[in-house]
Amino acid sequence: MLSSQYTLISRRHDGLSGQFLVPGDKSISHRSLILGGLAIGTTRVTGLLEGDDVLATCNAMRALGVTITHEDDGSWLVHGVGTAGLMSPAVPLDLGNSGTGVRLLMGVVAGQPITATFSGDDSLSQRPMARVTDPLAAMGAQITSRDGGRLPVTIKGVADPLAAAHTSKVASAQIKSAVLLAGINARGTSTVTEPHASRDHTESMLRHFGATVVQDMADDGTHHVSLTGEAVLRAADIAVPRDPSSAAFPMVAALLTPASDITIPGIGMNPLRTGLITTLMEMGGDITLSNERTEGGEPVADLRVRHSQLYGIDVPAARAASMIDEYPILAIAATQADGVTRMTGVSELRVKETDRIAVVADGIAAAGGSVSYDEDSMTVTGGNIAGGVTIASQHDHRIAMSFLTLGMVSDAAITVTGCMTINTSFPDFATLMNGCGAALAAAGGDT
Ligand code: S3P
Repeated sequence: MLSSQYTLISRRHDGLSGQFLVPGDKSISHRSLILGGLAIGTTRVTGLLEGDDVLATCNAMRALGVTITHEDDGSWLVHGVGTAGLMSPAVPLDLGNSGTGVRLLMGVVAGQPITATFSGDDSLSQRPMARVTDPLAAMGAQITSRDGGRLPVTIKGVADPLAAAHTSKVASAQIKSAVLLAGINARGTSTVTEPHASRDHTESMLRHFGATVVQDMADDGTHHVSLTGEAVLRAADIAVPRDPSSAAFPMVAALLTPASDITIPGIGMNPLRTGLITTLMEMGGDITLSNERTEGGEPVADLRVRHSQLYGIDVPAARAASMIDEYPILAIAATQADGVTRMTGVSELRVKETDRIAVVADGIAAAGGSVSYDEDSMTVTGGNIAGGVTIASQHDHRIAMSFLTLGMVSDAAITVTGCMTINTSFPDFATLMNGCGAALAAAGGDT
């Protein structure tokens, strides 16, 4: 057990083996607490991700008047108050590092006659919120924010929001979800159009709780969603699948390190989340799926991943939404591929927990890799990685885990500072990696 996770040092190891149990899906975990809180009755959630981001949403829901308890068997009970039962919180809602938590909850508050102020950490306070607050204002909410639409944001919601007819410039599940959540109490049908389909966990879970939600993919690839307003949500248990975005790290680590052969059971296989698996397979990755099944309304499978020689490919822009959180670790995989990997249509990476195009590319270059980028693309040429550098996580969990993975194949160790941020999505990352054979060590040697 690592006693200090602030700075971790990653070096080569002899291959990963065994079973890697990644935690619950972050997106579905947030939604289970939020929609469970808006339902009538008690929702039991099993497999919840107990990471900092989800716990921030849990605390915010409690501050909004929902009782949420953690049971002895590990499950969570959400005692819903119905779609109009929330109360104004006495203190600002601090969502920490969580873009999903803050943006979805803004939608919830906008559609109720309550007022809440939202805040977050340094990273979240730099991220754009107007993409959410503008459509919510159009639905009737009164909103004030810091200059440039940044946190802190205060929202005075309305009991009878106008139905939305929102067309989003970007494929973003957070924007779409905020509008749909505000539309639950609207009198008419709310519609959201996005240029490509983003993850649809909100739509699936709304249906699971009894709402009427229709999705339609047009011939040109645009995605249309409509929610019938004045929805009544009824509690329904939720089994959270394991997170494909967290599975990405052991997957790539196993592909890259000789002699590796691991299984990663119970991974969510929603087609709007599996772009990285498709891409790694196209690159020559030995990934096999077995035991494909449906759990809690989401497709799930067990993965087996073995060390493979990868080859560079062009990753199509249309795939970006289905692997948006996986580009940092894909760029790490591409440093070990034979040839050039081009990723296009990835400008959204610039407004994540960090500017992920710049931070990933600069880190790879500092470690001795070959990479170039512009506003909307990144190109990595495979080759030797010297390592021997220190990378700052900059409050970005996926940056921290990506460079710890790069350290597994670099000549000299890679040190990553600020690894506490990994707790936002993958609290046991280092322990689980080492349990399968990795050599991650806390700086100072205290493992
Ligand atoms: C998420 C949506 C994505 C993703 C984030 C989780 C969600 O963000 O990057 O980690 O749970 O809705 P965008 O919707 O901004 O693309």
